[in-house]
Order: sequence, then structure tokens, then C-alpha cells
Amino acid sequence: MNHPIRTVAVVGAGTMGLGIAHICAASGFTTLLFDVQQEQVAAAIRIIDKNLSLTIQKGRLTEKQKAEALSRLRPVNQLSDMKADLIIEAVVEKLAIKRQLFLELEKINESKAILATNTSSISVSQIAEVLLDKSRCIGLHFFNPTDRMKLVEIISGTFTNPELVEVMKGFSNSIGKTAVLAKDSPGFIVNRVARHFYVESLKLLEENVTDIKTIDVLLRSAGFKMGPFELMDLIGVDTNLAVTKSVYEGFHQDPKFKPSDIQQRLVDAGHFGRKTGKGFYEYSSK
Ligand SMILES: NC(=O)c1ccc[n+]([C@@H]2O[C@H](COP(=O)([O-])OP(=O)(O)OC[C@H]3O[C@@H](n4cnc5c(N)ncnc54)[C@H](O)[C@@H]3O)[C@@H](O)[C@H]2O)c1
Repeated sequence: MNHPIRTVAVVGAGTMGLGIAHICAASGFTTLLFDVQQEQVAAAIRIIDKNLSLTIQKGRLTEKQKAEALSRLRPVNQLSDMKADLIIEAVVEKLAIKRQLFLELEKINESKAILATNTSSISVSQIAEVLLDKSRCIGLHFFNPTDRMKLVEIISGTFTNPELVEVMKGFSNSIGKTAVLAKDSPGFIVNRVARHFYVESLKLLEENVTDIKTIDVLLRSAGFKMGPFELMDLIGVDTNLAVTKSVYEGFHQDPKFKPSDIQQRLVDAGHFGRKTGKGFYEYSSK
């Protein structure tokens, strides 16, 4: 499969979409960014601008490189303009929405684009099932914060063209990421293992064994970079819960992945973590 990638289109300008757009633009790709909520794109570009400035402060980027990265970043107002060699979707963790989106993008791009999903847990094969050319759909799972985390999981679905895996490995290298291959299984590698980090910590809370802060401090002191509750707030409590639900269903409601009522109540109240200013903790600015 000969597929030079010059233009990348990122759909969804939330927590992950903005990070993915950031690294693609900073790595030299013309990067289109679209979200159903138009104001989300402008907000994402402001955050990318701020994050690029932080990289300058750390001495890893020049002002010129920042300006060039921003000039490669193109806000897009309508989905029909999302024409690119590689589309990366980072929209909500819902199968029906991801399928519908790829179906539309496949038409818009006349089946010529690679359709990569950043899903954390949904089957890539199930997403691809509705497409005319299922072989062009692949999982490209980034980690948060995307501009700093090196790992990318490449997930090959039942229909994925094996040559596309090689193309995605090359692309991952070109944006400075380390790619690991995974089969299409619920939660893939990292999110399946990580479920226990969250689910077990939430159980400690439900059983009143101790409080949020103590669990976070203890797990940090045990060597984790972040405690489970501060990490859920960073990820998005809503996204984290959606992933747990998807893994739970994917493993036929295995009780070890059972979602927590505490987390559900936070989501019902709109407390999604850092992005809404409140989750397990409160934040002075979003
Ligand atoms: N948050 C994380 O740490 C993390 C890490 C890895 C992967 N993921 C995955 O990335 C995806 C996005 O997660 P997120 O945390 O960035 O979510 P988010 O809620 O922060 O952002 C999702 C964005 O998608 C937009 N959107 C929803 N439907 C859309 C559509 N049909 N077309 C265009 N835009 C649409 C929303 O307006 C929102 O801005 C999910 O599949 C999630 O599982 C998340």
C-alpha cells in the first residue's frame, strides 16, 4: 500500500483531538481540525498555542517552529471539508457515533483516505463493519497528554489491510511516537490492564475504606505518576466511565470490570473532571 501522508484531518477537538492535532501540526503535517461544537475548535487552538509556548519555555521549540506549527493547523467549519490522506477521529466513545462519522467521511473522501480511530476500547472491526472499504479502517490509540506521551497502540481489526499497519507505524514514527501493535480486543492492552487501577480504587471508595486524596497520595508514593482519581479527572470522568462500560460489555459483564455508581453519579451531575472544572477534585480554571 503506497500511501504518502501529507494532510491529516482530526475530528473531535476535545481532550484528545487537540493533543493529536498539536503533534501532527508540530511534526510538519497540514492538520485540519473539526468539531460538531464549533467553539470547541477555537478553544482547542488556544490551548495548543499555550502548550506550544510551554514547550518553548522548556527549550524544546523555537518561536519560529511554533509559528510554523500554528500555520499548518487549519480550523474547519463543516465536515464536508474534512478531506485528507489520514483521518483520525477522537469523538465521544460511542460506537454509533463513530460509525456514522466514518461512513460520512468515507463518502467525502471517496474511499481514498485512511480512517483511524482513537477509540480506547471499542472494537475497530465493529466500527469498520458499516464501511464500503473496511480495509482502510484501523485503530490508532494515543495517550493523554498526547504531546508528551510517547506510546501509540496500533490496532488491526478483522478487515484491516496488513499493509496499513506498516503505513501507521511509519506515521507514528514521523510524529515521534513509539508504536505497539495490538489485536482488536476490548480495551486493547493498556486500557484493559488500567481498568483495575480505576475500578479497584473506586471500590475502596464505595466501601469507605479510605478517601480519594489518601488513595492518590499512596499510589503516587508507590511509584505511579498520578493517582487514579487525579488521572480520571485528567482523562475525563465521562470518557473513563464510557471506556469501563465498553470493556465491561466487551467481556460479557465480567464483574471485575463493573462500572462504579460513584463515577456514574459524577457524570450524571456533569462533573467530568478538569475539562468542566470539577470531577473528583475542584479546579479553579478549566
Ligand atoms: N481522554 C483520554 O484520556 C483518552 C485517551 C485515549 C483515547 N481516548 C479516546 O478518544 C476519544 C475522544 O475522547 P476525549 O477524552 O477527547 O473526549 P472529549 O469529550 O474531551 O471530546 C470529544 C469531542 O468530540 C466532539 N464530537 C462529538 N461527536 C462528534 C461528531 N459526530 N463529529 C465531530 N465532533 C464530535 C465533542 O463535541 C467533543 O468536543 C474517545 O474515543 C476516547 O475513548 C481518550
